[in-house]
Amino acid sequence: MRLLLFILISIILSPLVIIGLIVYTYRLRRFSIPQKISGTANEAYGGRLCMHIAGTRNDPAAYALSGHLPLFNKVIDFCMIKTMKLACRLSGYQGSMFSYPGPRPSNLTTMQSHRAAFFDDAINSALTRADNPARQFVVLGAGWDTRCYDLPVGADVKCFEVDMAPTLNAKIAGLKSAGIPHDHVTFVETDFNQQTWLDALTEAGFDTSLTTFILWEGVSMYLNEDAVLDTLKLAAHFPTGSQIVFDYFSGELINTEPPFEKNGSRMMKQSMKYYEEKLSFGITTRKPARDGVEKVVNDCGLQLDAFEHTHTEEPPEIPMYCFALAYKS
Ligand SMILES: C[S@@+](CC[C@H](N)C(=O)[O-])C[C@H]1O[C@@H](n2cnc3c(N)ncnc32)[C@H](O)[C@@H]1O
Repeated sequence: MRLLLFILISIILSPLVIIGLIVYTYRLRRFSIPQKISGTANEAYGGRLCMHIAGTRNDPAAYALSGHLPLFNKVIDFCMIKTMKLACRLSGYQGSMFSYPGPRPSNLTTMQSHRAAFFDDAINSALTRADNPARQFVVLGAGWDTRCYDLPVGADVKCFEVDMAPTLNAKIAGLKSAGIPHDHVTFVETDFNQQTWLDALTEAGFDTSLTTFILWEGVSMYLNEDAVLDTLKLAAHFPTGSQIVFDYFSGELINTEPPFEKNGSRMMKQSMKYYEEKLSFGITTRKPARDGVEKVVNDCGLQLDAFEHTHTEEPPEIPMYCFALAYKS
């Protein structure tokens, strides 16, 4: 009934949503892509924003930032975000992709909420545990992530956000425009494919002797293999108890191999074309999927702590998307 009401209200409001989609695409082509500002950052951000709007996952900073970003500007905020909020409020609908932490096994619709829940749990635990809590919180490939602006109660960390200059500058402008306090965050420009992010961080005041938590969400798939392995190897130089949490796509999906050769791979690659970005990196998820990532992190000097995946491992299915938490022992 709630879903029906949600669909009905959405249909009534659809002219506004269509205007929003046109403006979104226009601004992507006219501003974001030419200025080399990340387009896919909007996908990850949009997923968390939807959960906040539906009332399933609290993210006030993400909501405040909407209307102050290159794509999520005031028009899109009004036409798409506020209309969706109205539809959720009036219908009370919170299901499917808005659910949080969402169903298990998760699927294409619910994988964003599964991902958010996995990362949230890892962050909360690392920043608030009584024994050896993280003292530094690094968000690698930060995009429009807002976790530094809504830290868990009791967290006592120095925050760093690392990204390429165009995206980082657009974010700082957005935070200022939205009036979100950000003096506690150090912004660090780098290109993971070109230079060592640790050098850039150290120059910005990062202390390699402190227990550190690295959030690396939605990034590995856009990098080359060397850049991914180098990042994991650098994390292995941090003090005992330091952790890195990351997600990755199935290597079979990236390489257009079974069982994704017919639809999964093509669909995913087509959606990347919209943003003019490319998927490059994956790790095998053939059963047992955990073994594939465990070998990679072990070879880089880390231990695997937690691991989850979308879909199931039961043939003919293999997981499409995985989440891993690794630590320095
Ligand atoms: C899909 S977005 C994810 C953003 C954010 N972590 C989140 O989950 O909302 C990928 C981010 O990685 C950044 N990125 C991609 N390739 C990069 C590179 N070579 N060096 C630095 N940052 C990069 C992009 O600018 C973008 O902000």
